[in-house]
Amino acid sequence: MRVLGIETSCDETGIAIYDEREGLLSHALYSQVKLHADYGGVVPELASRDHVRKLVPLVRQALADAKVDPQSLDGVAYTAGPGLIGALLVGACAGRSLAYAWGIPAVAVHHMEGHLLAPMLEETPPAFPFVALLVSGGHTMLVRVDGIGQYQVLGESIDDAAGEAFDKTAKLMGLDYPGGPLLAKLAAQGSAGRFKFPRPMTDRPGLDFSFSGLKTFAANTIAAHGEEALADIARAFEDAVVDTLAIKCRRALDQTGLKRLVVAGGVSANRHLRAQLAEMMAKRGGEVFYPRPEFCTDNGAMIAYAGLQRLKAGETQPLAVKGQPRWPLDQLSAPGA
Ligand code: KG4
Ligand code: ZN
Repeated sequence: MRVLGIETSCDETGIAIYDEREGLLSHALYSQVKLHADYGGVVPELASRDHVRKLVPLVRQALADAKVDPQSLDGVAYTAGPGLIGALLVGACAGRSLAYAWGIPAVAVHHMEGHLLAPMLEETPPAFPFVALLVSGGHTMLVRVDGIGQYQVLGESIDDAAGEAFDKTAKLMGLDYPGGPLLAKLAAQGSAGRFKFPRPMTDRPGLDFSFSGLKTFAANTIAAHGEEALADIARAFEDAVVDTLAIKCRRALDQTGLKRLVVAGGVSANRHLRAQLAEMMAKRGGEVFYPRPEFCTDNGAMIAYAGLQRLKAGETQPLAVKGQPRWPLDQLSAPGA
């Protein structure tokens, strides 16, 4: 089976072709980061319009790169949610229409299921069951994954996502959007320990997160100490986010008794986070898995992979086109179930 995957839930247009036997045949990505930079965040209407412009050329490119004909495809998978409704509808309309034109089935994919399964595209994929930490600009969640479609959300952010907190704090520091990587770079020049930020919600049981207070803490510290202290403040902020994520991962592994951890989403690119999780997992005798860097962030490959698993089980989408801006992950069930 061979599937075309389409991702348009936010500000990346991602297209990929995945073959069950041959693996990933091609993937093409266009990031709208520059388009939104002047506004300091994603502008939904601009995102939708840009997906319209980029999608078909990227599909052509993915087909050409894979040297395959549309006739050789067995299905089309598109992200149906969660995400920005306009952006989702572009991918859903295009995916559903292409499948109709090519006379093949289409399947709607949950964006977070795509992220969860992204490490399956690597040479040494994790075995089920595992705990997944999804940390992006839009989501922070811990999920128990027992198999494809068998997800139990263990905890999630009750306010800002971790990446969002990075971006908002970076903005306070006068850094460009998206500020996460820039803040991390600044933090590398700062010294640890000068400022001590809280580790939100770690003093009580549970696996939920809250990051909006850290942003306020950063704002107050910047106001009190000024420009000269920015690198040290960045360091304190990063240490607080990383520690908090690591503490909750440890708790989730203790609670579930599982030994494997999967980490995905844009924030998983953070070096301190990776180092701390590596140390923690080594101590516990467990393993941590990441998708390759380009598949940590939004991409079409993870959607093609997830879609293939569902198409294989006979799941298909009727002709109606639907996007679901909100779509709880634990509403999913095993393919074909
Ligand atoms: O998964 P992603 O590309 O997009 C979605 O939000 O879906 O994640 C982007 C987020 C942004 O908030 C960005 O600032 C953050 O990931 N990010 C980082 C780093 N690289 C990207 N945050 C902290 N440290 C990094 N090195
Ligand atoms: Zn994402």
